Order: sequence, then C-alpha cells, then structure tokens
Amino acid sequence: MDDIITIYVTDLHGDRHEIQAPTDMGLNVMEAIKANNLPVKATCGGMAMCATCNVIIKSDHELPEMSESEEDMLDEAFVLEVEGSRLSCQIPVSAEIDGLELSMAPLSNPED
Ligand code: FES
Repeated sequence: MDDIITIYVTDLHGDRHEIQAPTDMGLNVMEAIKANNLPVKATCGGMAMCATCNVIIKSDHELPEMSESEEDMLDEAFVLEVEGSRLSCQIPVSAEIDGLELSMAPLSNPED
C-alpha cells in the first residue's frame, strides 16, 4: 500500500527491526517505534522536552530541519554533536522517509 512506509530500527542490543508505519495518521517516528512494540522511553510524550526519544539517523534521507527546541534539547542532553542525532518525536512519518534507517540512542533506554 502506498500510505505505509518502512523504517529500519536497530535497537540497543544491535538487533535490526523492520517496522511499518502509516503516513496518513499524523504519527511521528517515536510513535511509530512505540506502536511496533520497540522500547523507547519518550518521557515527555513527543513535546521535544526530554531527549529520551533520541535516535541516530543512519541513512541519508532528507529530514525536516530541526526546530530550535529540538536543537536546544539535544544540546542540553549533550548529544547535539553526535552525527545523525535527532529527536524521533520531531520527525513526521511521511512518504519522504520511506526506508529510513536509524539506531536507538542510549538516552531512549526505558530501563534507565
Ligand atoms: S518524546 Fe520527549 S523529546 Fe521526544
């Protein structure tokens, strides 16, 4: 189906998961990860206020630019300089990111 995209998520154990997400439900990548039962802490629920949905983008998809609040939050969490570091809740699920490849970052670990 056209309105379902695939995202590849490598978890904190190094296991790679292929997940599907609909583009027509206003979801963000953090919600798509959660909806596929992969662990992501995401304390603030997607408000760009916690950095516990931090992921490292591995593919070269063109993503929406970081907002000031995303940049501030990544900076505060000392992960802004990490290449590919983003807040997954700030990336909308859209056709443009079909095939996105990312790794969960340590901050997203719900066990911590
Ligand atoms: S869920 Fe808190 S910043 Fe993304």
